Order: sequence, then structure tokens, then C-alpha cells
Amino acid sequence: MNILILGSGGREHAFAWKMVQSPLCDTLFVAPGNAGTAQIATNLPIAVNDAEAIAKAIQEHHIDLLVVGPEEPLVKGLVNTLRQKKKLANLKIVGPDQQGAQLEGSKDFSKQFMQRYGIPTATSRTFTAETLQEGLAYVDAHSLPIVLKADGLAAGKGVVIAETLDEARTVLTDMLTGGRFGEAGSKVVVEQFLRGIELSVFVLTDGQNYKILPEAKDYKRIGEGDTGPNTGGMGAVSPVKFATPKFLQKVEEKVVKPTLAGLQKEGIRYQGFIFIGLMNVKDEPCVIEYNARMGDPETEVVLPRIQNDLVELMVATADGELDRIQLQVSPQTAVTTVVVSGGYPDAYEKGKAISDLETLEDVTAFHAGTTPGSNGHVLTSGGRVLALTAVANSLENAVMKSQKAARTVQFDGKYYRKDIGLDLIRFPD
Ligand code: AMP
Ligand code: GLY
Repeated sequence: MNILILGSGGREHAFAWKMVQSPLCDTLFVAPGNAGTAQIATNLPIAVNDAEAIAKAIQEHHIDLLVVGPEEPLVKGLVNTLRQKKKLANLKIVGPDQQGAQLEGSKDFSKQFMQRYGIPTATSRTFTAETLQEGLAYVDAHSLPIVLKADGLAAGKGVVIAETLDEARTVLTDMLTGGRFGEAGSKVVVEQFLRGIELSVFVLTDGQNYKILPEAKDYKRIGEGDTGPNTGGMGAVSPVKFATPKFLQKVEEKVVKPTLAGLQKEGIRYQGFIFIGLMNVKDEPCVIEYNARMGDPETEVVLPRIQNDLVELMVATADGELDRIQLQVSPQTAVTTVVVSGGYPDAYEKGKAISDLETLEDVTAFHAGTTPGSNGHVLTSGGRVLALTAVANSLENAVMKSQKAARTVQFDGKYYRKDIGLDLIRFPD
């Protein structure tokens, strides 16, 4: 079959890498893709939010299966647009419609959803410009730190953890009346700060049946020791030592099952990935957020551990037949180190030539922000440039191999965290 993957990051390169291994895959397209996907698939110069151009490409290239990588087109209703087109009636889609994507697209929606279905999450209230005074009073009476979240999509930057009342008051006021985060900040969720260790759990559902994919830990901050500003993710590890079978059982019973039951009760036909960001609070799961897609760079450690044919898994998801599939997961450990452009997550330069990519050993180099240059060179074109994944029999070995690759690859201004996975190596048994 012909397959189209939408997106251009490490996540999409990992999807492409896994899908081209399938005998079911005839021609693979990625839109818009990057230099890595260009080596194994055909890149189409189409923006992920250009629904009409995507529909046209699907027809022109006789696409049978579409897998949507990033959240923005999902939240904007791409899936609804495509489903309305009679000519695309046979298209199989992995990715929720606009209603389902609200789990990620509106933090207020997702908090209310969790409250309706008794899913453990931080206590919170939502405020708008009209209720700013109430919001300030709520903040004043709250314990510190206090978490403020812009309701809408804000490219991972819409969360502020305020350490003082003054800061919390200023941020709330700026978001609601000062246009900070624009439209996304016109509603703000104010919530309790959760103390614990974070974990990402991924669910693949066909609307009825589900599979829990390997869990992962993401390293969000730019600096070693989890310091400095948040990024899209600087590295990831799977499996995660503290996610014991007992803890994951609690996640399934207290979070996954009620989430899927809630979606069904609300008449939302959700076919795709649900990424559950969790805090392990004294061995109890507490949901921080939902995402309507896979994580990046988590995908780069989750997919290498899945032994099934990914195309078969995706088709079963779109066809409502996930119950036919037995998920096979490798017991090995996968570690990815993300190599970024100097300056990221703030301003950074692009167009730097990457060298020594071909010489990397023992890793799969997933491209994130890269573009093909002249003479076969690969150039940087984004903040996160590469995700270098090693799979090994121990966490120590996987860390060593991934880090060695990050040391080896070169480009002007290169930066990466040298402590990916070290907290888990030190984590008590
Ligand atoms: P989000 O965009 O909701 O994933 O939030 C970004 C990051 O902020 C999360 O990955 C957490 O590290 C942190 N965070 C969000 N909500 C809370 C909370 N209630 N308590 C503690 N940390 C939080
Ligand atoms: N790595 C976090 C995310 O994909 O949102």
C-alpha cells in the first residue's frame, strides 16, 4: 500500500524508518519530511496545515494510509476535512478528529474530561479575562509553587510554574489581558503543583480496543540536571525503571480505561495515539496532560522496541481491528540523545553543514531539523537537529552508545545533554 506520513521531525523519521521495513509498504511519502526521510521515502513539499494540498496529494499518489505526526493539523480538524471528501472514502487514517484532539488542544477541556471520569489529576480551576479578579483571589489563596497553563496550543511553552504569588499574579494577568500566548492564553488553567517523577505512557486505540505501548522518560529542560528552559525534549529512555508492572497496572486501571470509556461515552471515535504525561506521586499516577499524538523524542525510543510490523499496527488501528494484534516488545533498552543547534530553545542559526553522520556506529540517526544541501551534504534547519538512538542489553550500554554518537557528529554550535539516562542508572532498585 501507499503511505503518507505527515510531519518533519524525528518522530516522523522514526515512523518512516519503521514503516519501510514492512512488506506491506509499497511507496512511502512524507510531507514535508526532512533530509533523513528523503533518504528512505519521497518527501512532498506540503505544509502540515494545508488540508486541501494534503487531500490533493492523497488522491494524486493513491495513498491508502495516512499517519498524522504532529498535533496542530489534528487540533485544526484535518481529519474531519479529509473524512468529508467522498473521493477519499477508502482512506485509512491514524489520528483523531478535531473533537478527539481537544484532549490536547484545550487544557480546560482535558481537565473537565478528567474530572467527569474520575481520572486522577491536579486540582485546578479555569479563568478568562472576565473572571480575572476571581482568578487572582484563587491564586492568592493557593499554595506555592502554582502552575498556570494557557488553554490552547502554545508549542510546549504555555506552562508557567510560578514560585511566588507576585509572579503568578503577573503571569495570569498577562495571559488573560496582555495577550501573552495570544489566543491560546485567553483561558488559563490554574493548578496545583505535583511533586514526583514524570513518565510518558502511550496508548494506541482503534476506538474500541487498545494497546499500551512501551513507556518512556523524556528530558525536557535544556540544561543538565534538569535546569533552564523547557524544550521539545532533549533525550528519552525506554523502558523506565520506576514504571514497575504494578505502577503500569494502576495507570491502565485508573487512567487508560476511564479515558477510553469517557471518549466512547462522549461519542468521540478516537483512532490514533494518546500520549499520557503522568506524574508518579508516591506510586500513584496523576495525569499532567494528554497529547493527541506520539511524543518526540519518545517515539525514537518507543518504536525501536516494538517488534511488530508498524504498517500492520496502523492499518488495524484505522480498521478497528487492534484486537487481532499481539504487541511484541523487545526487553532491550533504547536511549536517544537529541543534538540541537546552539541557542535553542531561543534563537539559533540554521544552515550549518553536518559532518560525520555516515561514520556513526551502533545508533540509528533520526533526523529532526535537517534539510538536504548541495553535494549530498545535510544541513541543519531546526532547533532539534538529530535524535541518536541506541538499543542495547543494558541502560548503561545504550547511554554510552547514544552519547558517543552525539560526541562524534559535528556541526557549528552543536549542543547536547550529557546526562540523558544517568538519573535512571542511579535510581534505586
Ligand atoms: P505540559 O505542557 O502540560 O506538558 O507541561 C509542561 C511541563 O510542565 C510538564 O512536562 C511538567 O514537567 C510541568 N508541569 C505541568 N503541570 C504540572 C503540575 N501540575 N505540577 C508539576 N509540574 C507540572
Ligand atoms: N517530548 C514531549 C512531547 O512530544 O510533547
